[in-house]
Amino acid sequence: MSQKNRTILVTSALPYANGPIHIGHMVEYIQTDIWARFQRLRGQHCTYVCADDAHGTPIMLRARQEGITPEALIAASALEHQADFAAFNISFDNYYSTHSDENRTLAAQVFERNQAGGHIASRTITQAYDAQENMFLPDRFIKGECPRCGAADQYGDNCEACGATYAPTELKNAVSAISGTTPVEKETEHLFFKLTDFEDLLKTWIKAGHLQTEVANKVEEWFEAGLQEWGISRDAPYFGFEIPGHPDKYFYVWMDAPIGYMASFKNLCDRNPELDFDQYWNSDSDTELYHFIGKDIINFHALFWPAMLKGANYRTPTAIFAHGFLTVDGQKMSKSRGTFINARAYLDHLNPEYLRYYFAAKLGSGVDDIDLNLEDFVLRVNSDLVGKVVNIASRCAGFINKRFSGQLSDQCTESGLYQAFVDEGDAIAGDYERREFGQAIRKIMALADRANQYIDANKPWVLAKEAGKEQMVQDVCSVGLNLFRVLMTYLQPVLPAMAADVETFLQLPAMTWDSIDTPLTGHTINKFKPLMTRVEQEKIDAMLEDSKDSLGTTTAAPGTAASGPSTTDPIAATISFEDFAKLDLRIARISKAAHVEGADKLLQLTLDIGGETRNVFAGIKSAYAPEALEGKLTVMVANLAPRKMRFGVSEGMVLAAGPGGSDLFVLHPDDGAEPGMRVK
Ligand code: 2FM
Ligand code: ZN
Repeated sequence: MSQKNRTILVTSALPYANGPIHIGHMVEYIQTDIWARFQRLRGQHCTYVCADDAHGTPIMLRARQEGITPEALIAASALEHQADFAAFNISFDNYYSTHSDENRTLAAQVFERNQAGGHIASRTITQAYDAQENMFLPDRFIKGECPRCGAADQYGDNCEACGATYAPTELKNAVSAISGTTPVEKETEHLFFKLTDFEDLLKTWIKAGHLQTEVANKVEEWFEAGLQEWGISRDAPYFGFEIPGHPDKYFYVWMDAPIGYMASFKNLCDRNPELDFDQYWNSDSDTELYHFIGKDIINFHALFWPAMLKGANYRTPTAIFAHGFLTVDGQKMSKSRGTFINARAYLDHLNPEYLRYYFAAKLGSGVDDIDLNLEDFVLRVNSDLVGKVVNIASRCAGFINKRFSGQLSDQCTESGLYQAFVDEGDAIAGDYERREFGQAIRKIMALADRANQYIDANKPWVLAKEAGKEQMVQDVCSVGLNLFRVLMTYLQPVLPAMAADVETFLQLPAMTWDSIDTPLTGHTINKFKPLMTRVEQEKIDAMLEDSKDSLGTTTAAPGTAASGPSTTDPIAATISFEDFAKLDLRIARISKAAHVEGADKLLQLTLDIGGETRNVFAGIKSAYAPEALEGKLTVMVANLAPRKMRFGVSEGMVLAAGPGGSDLFVLHPDDGAEPGMRVK
């Protein structure tokens, strides 16, 4: 089954640099990582690269909102993302950023080659424009009433209430989600990628087995609907790369994002002389290239990406592997229920290998959504990993350690059973290769059951008490540990940390798929240490509690690398008087004000509300030097739930009024107000 010497490059979708990694994202990184680790375990040369997706309007606006530069935002995000991925043991060979020199060069090159081939068109279009912010508005930043069903507060491209899709110009009573003003229409020239030039080629490519059947069918539907030219430029202000030869026009984030796969790999090649960029990306490359993605970004990867590569005379992907979304307890992840679980919140409470195992057990090769059922999660991890797999080792190791100085028998007496375990390897490898991880796990657990049955039948704990049965004890336990080793080799792609501990325990060199061909005989092992503890319900409860949004918002995430626009919508819908009455507005004295390192707009305020002090971050730096604020009074929202910000926890909100810039006013101390006074 194992074809040797394959040279493989694999990628996961690049997460946006404006938000944390959540467990929905982790489905994809865990899926890709298991597959990459499996390939390496089988002796293939497999390189896995990824990067932060650092460009676009949402990132620009998020940075603005936080009062920092986009560069500072993406730098902070890169650190957080990489720490989360490392904790989940995602084995990237390189993790980079689309905001890099390599990506700038490659994006320009891909563009220029397509342009030279006649695949770029230019024309003037009319687009919504926010005259207050002096910027064109992406569809997702226009809100209004659905032209079909009239639902309020819908985004500019589709209605969440009735599912209609439309142009933002069709929205009724549209407003800019940035300034709240009514957008005007303005003409602007844009560049378009002529996807239709590649129609025949794409049709052939799509039928050639590069896509899962259901994905290929979806793409067929798009063909039937007719391919459109794809707008690849955006007007300033935009955080991205300026387009060569087109001042003030920037590459649309989705133009340079997939090129980020190449750029990350290029960056790795430049540090690693064994890797040759051209060998992997030239049009005649014989290496394999796989992109793992969520099913929401199929169009970018199965249409635009292969076409753009072709137009730039690069190779096309060997396959695109799309997966479904994650639900938690059968529902979309929800902040109010605490099921919108960030990677960090998970890691604060639970072992990452539990989740790796659970996702593996649930994952198949299709695009079906997978559900994290928390009750099932506890049961399955505890019964499979702790109750079955680790149990084999813990039942056998004590006898070998104590009675035989850690030495296994000179022969594997149950060679038939051992061989049966090894023989199952081809089928399990086939499952991994096809990304049928759930099937692989079922086969491995069936073997674990057989190993436990063998130990149950031979009862080393009974033999140990009988005279003259010493050899049998050693033999049974040695067989048990050998079977355990085979199981852990099969599980290594899923449980790399536990497998590493098993290598130490069994005194093994790094595991390989082939090394299990021969059992360990006459071999000395180390003392057994517990390899995995049970999942505790209290830990799950604590994680859910930590994940509950203090603001009680109910934003649901699609559960893939797609995070869409910022979830903090600057436009508030109208609120009822009852809602307003809930606000606890108090006079506060600013007892201390300080600069915040790395923040352009924020000041850190210590507020005295009559005996109680609050720490608040306020975006009023443009109007006040910290020392000018000390002693002044302001109005604060005192019952706003504390909010974790990049710089610390903000325990309320300061109200200041004015046109902005240096005209932003807080109250003056001699207005007759006293700290702590209620304002309404
Ligand atoms: O959907 C997303 O989250 C994108 N940031 C994925 C980009 S994948 C690639 F094409 F760069
Ligand atoms: Zn509608």
